[in-house]
Amino acid sequence: MMKTILMEKEKSRTGALQLVNAHHPLADCSIRNLMPVDVRFPGILMMRDAANILRLAFEKISAQGSIVPVSGYRSGKEQAAIYEESVQNNGAAFTEKYVALPGHSEHQTGFAIDLGLAKEEIDFICPDFPYEGICNAFRKISADYGFVERYAKGKERVTGISHEPWHFRYVGYPHAKIMEEKGMALEEYTEFIKEYRVDSRLVYQKDAGSAMEVYYVPVDGDETFVPVPDTSFYQISGNNAGGFVVTVQVS
Ligand code: DAL
Ligand code: ZN
Repeated sequence: MMKTILMEKEKSRTGALQLVNAHHPLADCSIRNLMPVDVRFPGILMMRDAANILRLAFEKISAQGSIVPVSGYRSGKEQAAIYEESVQNNGAAFTEKYVALPGHSEHQTGFAIDLGLAKEEIDFICPDFPYEGICNAFRKISADYGFVERYAKGKERVTGISHEPWHFRYVGYPHAKIMEEKGMALEEYTEFIKEYRVDSRLVYQKDAGSAMEVYYVPVDGDETFVPVPDTSFYQISGNNAGGFVVTVQVS
């Protein structure tokens, strides 16, 4: 059985699946529910759910102490200061490749985190996060915890940002798994999901006993009726690209 939830248009711009890039500016909304991802770095924050899940991933591979959070949530002012400082220190060409314009950074959503291999000197813009050892152990499990390496090699034209091995984005499960399996950047996944609707859903088989379903509901005026299941657990996220994505736990 289904029911409908009324969603305001503004809500289509927020949530773990929101696309933020040069063409999709951040919604003008206040961010709450931030928390540190590591108690030793109380100033490096993510949205609560993402922070909690990241901790679980670190625990799984005993990464505490060897992987450190370098940059999490940034306000618009902080992003502007980072951008300007990078232009001064590194020049405009470098900065355009590695720093998003203020108002266009995923770091302003609270769903992005830069991670570094723990060492004495850590580069703030481009921390070392190699494809080996503990860092790669994290990379390998990250999708199981809903995180993706957001700016992959070969996707520079799609994302508008150079390869950033250190920048991870929380999109949630099973979206990170599907993106990883299909080799899609968030830009591509956002378009891909638009093809799946409430009566033609994407089914993601977690294991023999449980599946998730995903479907898209485009914004329809100031308030959109979003169909959701009556009894199953579900989540709704905006995509910041014209609609809502519903994720349902079916069994
Ligand atoms: N380094 C990423 C692109 C940012 O500044 O948001
Ligand atoms: Zn980053």
